[in-house]
Amino acid sequence: MPNPFILANWKMCKTPSETEALLSEILPALGNGSGVDVVVAPPFTNLTVAARLLAGSGVSLAGQDCHWEEEGPYTGQVSARMLVESGCRYVLLGHSELRQFAGDTDQRVNLKARMALFWDLVPIVCVGEQRDERASGHAEMVVEAQLNRCLDSLSVARPRGLMVAYEPVWAIGTGHLPTPSEVSSVHHIIRSTLLQAFGVKLGSTIPILYGGSVTTESVGPMLALDVVDGVLVGGASLRAESFLPLVAEVKACGPQEA
Ligand code: PGA
Repeated sequence: MPNPFILANWKMCKTPSETEALLSEILPALGNGSGVDVVVAPPFTNLTVAARLLAGSGVSLAGQDCHWEEEGPYTGQVSARMLVESGCRYVLLGHSELRQFAGDTDQRVNLKARMALFWDLVPIVCVGEQRDERASGHAEMVVEAQLNRCLDSLSVARPRGLMVAYEPVWAIGTGHLPTPSEVSSVHHIIRSTLLQAFGVKLGSTIPILYGGSVTTESVGPMLALDVVDGVLVGGASLRAESFLPLVAEVKACGPQEA
């Protein structure tokens, strides 16, 4: 059984010095990181300082986005190659806040994922329904269609070379969570979409995370679902007091040392 994932999405929070302070506080407490795969996604300006502190810690670094072109006249954007050189192993793509505020579409996410894979970054593709789509019973259909567009003609070369995060838009930052059976049903659809797109051998290795208002209380029941391979955490990842207990919970849900 692979380790469960916990990805800390700091969004537009923390300056470089605040990054240094938080990582200096949490890294010693995380120990050698065995039994859980921790990934931190700070703002772009903090990647270099984070990479320096994370070296040898077992904690990995992620970018919060990348552009679909290699380089060029794209003011304000960051390329996949820049992320790699800054120490990232992962990149979040298609987060609902980028879809809402920066015009990201599934087609764009697909192009970004191609560029990320070209540079051997692991794309973490975010999908999720709006509140009215959930209310009208269309969540599964919406997520399946989103994912198919995001994955169109992608070629993933190695096991776990891609991840998918199911983030219902209405659950992000609201304190409202889907029920375990709602999560389970969407994760099953995601898994079958992945198996269709990449075949059983590769498709079954791609981790599927849940994200949206994850807390120490909600994470256990979420990970108890065998279709949930990890969690993506926003608000609760910004302070050591809330993040460390969460990591401990995630670890307790993973393979136990003999
Ligand atoms: P939240 O954010 O944990 O604050 O709901 C999750 C996310 O946006 O990835």
